[in-house]
Amino acid sequence: MKRHPILVGNWKMHGSRSSSVELMSSIASGVSMRPVDVALCVPFPLLQLAEETLGSSTVAWGAQTLSENEDGAHTGDVSARMLREFGCSYVIVGHSERRSAHGESDEVVAAKTRTALQARLTPIVCVGETVFDREAGLAKSIILRQLDAVMSTLDEVERERCIVAYEPVWAIGTGLTATPEQAAEAHGWIRSRIAEGSAVAAESIRILYGGSVKPSGAKDLFSMPGIDGALVGGASLISESFVAIAAAAA
Ligand code: G3H
Repeated sequence: MKRHPILVGNWKMHGSRSSSVELMSSIASGVSMRPVDVALCVPFPLLQLAEETLGSSTVAWGAQTLSENEDGAHTGDVSARMLREFGCSYVIVGHSERRSAHGESDEVVAAKTRTALQARLTPIVCVGETVFDREAGLAKSIILRQLDAVMSTLDEVERERCIVAYEPVWAIGTGLTATPEQAAEAHGWIRSRIAEGSAVAAESIRILYGGSVKPSGAKDLFSMPGIDGALVGGASLISESFVAIAAAAA
């Protein structure tokens, strides 16, 4: 089975009402003819703008986290139902910035993934090792521990509905990128592990690379087997860069 490439922009805590419409519109027109799925995961207050601006385009949108709870007294949290109301198709779960700055455990990431799936959102499940893990030879075991924590709680159909993003923490926002070989190796670990539970899921699930992806290295990255696209932070805030990465992924 040929997997359709997908490029996801993670705007993190960037953007304003005034700047975002222009950036969304520019990206939407730049990628409109590209045979690649494109989505922008924007801050919560920009979701309505995303719906209004991207609604008639080929670009989907989503959020960067969600509550694992359905509703109730959870001050500051946002539910899957609310994301659906604003037309979201995707939600990032388990980004390393959420794990480290908000103490999100593997169990919480798994619960958020299930909540997203129940609401018919596509979860983009992030896994990745720190530089200390990598230097200690623990990259594979950390990545697979994070993956297993989520996948072991899902049935086969649910696994197929996930996207996994391999994001080495040492490459996020640092300008350091994993080499295409390092990224492909990690993607291989992830896909092989999923195959142990379901060959069908392993064949169909899309695995993205994230970590300082830029237009310059994108073609080499996407030429590696098993890399189905990218989760892009900084470069998704510059239309020309993001569109160029989309062109490389197509
Ligand atoms: O979600 C995106 C990743 O954290 C990568 O961010 O492209 O700015 O390194 P970056």
